[in-house]
Amino acid sequence: MLWVGTSWKMNGTRAFAADYAQKLHDADLAPIVEAGIQPFIIPSFTAIDVAAGILTDSSPVIVGAQNAHWEEKGAWTGEVSMVQAKDAGAKIIEMGHSERRQYFGETDETVNLKVKAALREGLIPLVCFGESAEVFEAGETVEFITSQIDAALDGVVDTSRVILAYEPIWAIGEHGRPPEREDLARTFSVLADRYVGRVQAILYGGSVNHDNIKDILGIEGVGGLFIGRSAWTPEGYLKNLELAAETLH
Ligand code: PGA
Repeated sequence: MLWVGTSWKMNGTRAFAADYAQKLHDADLAPIVEAGIQPFIIPSFTAIDVAAGILTDSSPVIVGAQNAHWEEKGAWTGEVSMVQAKDAGAKIIEMGHSERRQYFGETDETVNLKVKAALREGLIPLVCFGESAEVFEAGETVEFITSQIDAALDGVVDTSRVILAYEPIWAIGEHGRPPEREDLARTFSVLADRYVGRVQAILYGGSVNHDNIKDILGIEGVGGLFIGRSAWTPEGYLKNLELAAETLH
C-alpha cells in the first residue's frame, strides 16, 4: 500500500474544504484504490469536520489533523486533544513537522507523548522528521533522523500503525529544493533497513510535484508521499494520485 496525502498547513476556509472534499468525493477514485493507494488529506482543525462529513466511511479518503495534544483534556489553552480531533473526524494525527518544531516548541519528547496518545485513541500517528541543510551538508543526516525517529518511538510497544514521513527541512516549502535522487535513495535504504516491517509505511515529503513524483516513488523503500503545495488544489492532488497510481501498474 502506498500512502499519498497532503497537509494544507494553515490554508483554507470551511468553504474551501467543502469544495475540495466534494471534488474528491465526486472523482472516480476506484483506479487509485485498485492500484493500492491510500489517499489522505489533513486540513486545519476548523475544517476537519467539514471534510470528514463529505468524505465519510464510504470514501477511500481518510481525513487527519495537523497536530493534537497528548493529554485527554484540561487546562491547555489553545490546544486540541486527540479525543477532540477524533471527534471532529480525524483518523490520522500529524506530529513533529519541522514548522512545529521550529516555531511551536515541538520536541522529540512531545512527539513521543503524542505518538502514544494517538495510539491510545486508535488514531494513526504520522511522525515527521528531517534534518536541516547544515546537518545534511555535514553528512550527518542518518544519525540525526534516526535519533529523531527512535525518540518518537521510544517505549511504544506496538509501532505497526505508525507512519513515518521523512521531510528534509531544506526540501520543504517555497524555498525548498527537491533532493537529488541518489541522496534520497541512500537515506531511504537506511530507513528501510531499520524501520520497514516495524512501522506501517515510510513516506517522503518536500517539494514533491507532478514532475518528480514518479521518480521519487521509484526509490526503494519509499512507501508513499506527504505533499504540500502541489496538492493544495483538488485538481493538483488528484493529478498526484493519478501519477502515483501509474507507477504501480
Ligand atoms: P511542500 O511541503 O510539498 O510544499 O514542499 C511539504 C511539507 O511540508 O510537508
